Amino acid sequence: MRAAVYRRAHFNAAHRLHNAKWSDERNREVFGPCNNANFHGHNYELEVCVKGNVNPDTGYVMDLGVLKQIIKEEVEDRFDHKNLNLDVPDFQDRMPSAEHIAAAIYDYLLPRLPAGLELSLKLWETPRNAVGYPV
Ligand code: NI
Repeated sequence: MRAAVYRRAHFNAAHRLHNAKWSDERNREVFGPCNNANFHGHNYELEVCVKGNVNPDTGYVMDLGVLKQIIKEEVEDRFDHKNLNLDVPDFQDRMPSAEHIAAAIYDYLLPRLPAGLELSLKLWETPRNAVGYPV
C-alpha cells in the first residue's frame, strides 16, 4: 500500500522583491510592500509531503524523525533568521519569491530522502498565501 506522510516546519526570513531592469515606480507597482527598500520579514510555514510505499517491516513511508532532521539541516539551518537576498546564495540571481524558495527547498530535500519516495511541498508566506511545488 501507498500513503503520504506530512511534516510542518517554520522559519523566519527577510527578503526584498526588486527587478533591477525596472523603474522604482514599476517595482512598487508590481511588488507592493515586498519591494520595500530596507527588506521586510515573513513567517514562512512549510508543509512537506512524502508519498510512497509503506514499508511492511516498519509500517512507515519514512521515519518522520529522520524527515524532521533533514528539514532542520536543509531548510531551517539555511534560511531561518536570514536575509534571503543578502545571506543566501540561491537568491543572488533569482527573485526570493515564495515560488523560488519552494523550488530551492525541493532541490535541497529531494536528494536527502530515501530512494523511490515522491516529494511535494507547500510554502506559506502569509497565513493566506501559499505556493505548491512541484505542480
Ligand atoms: Ni515579502
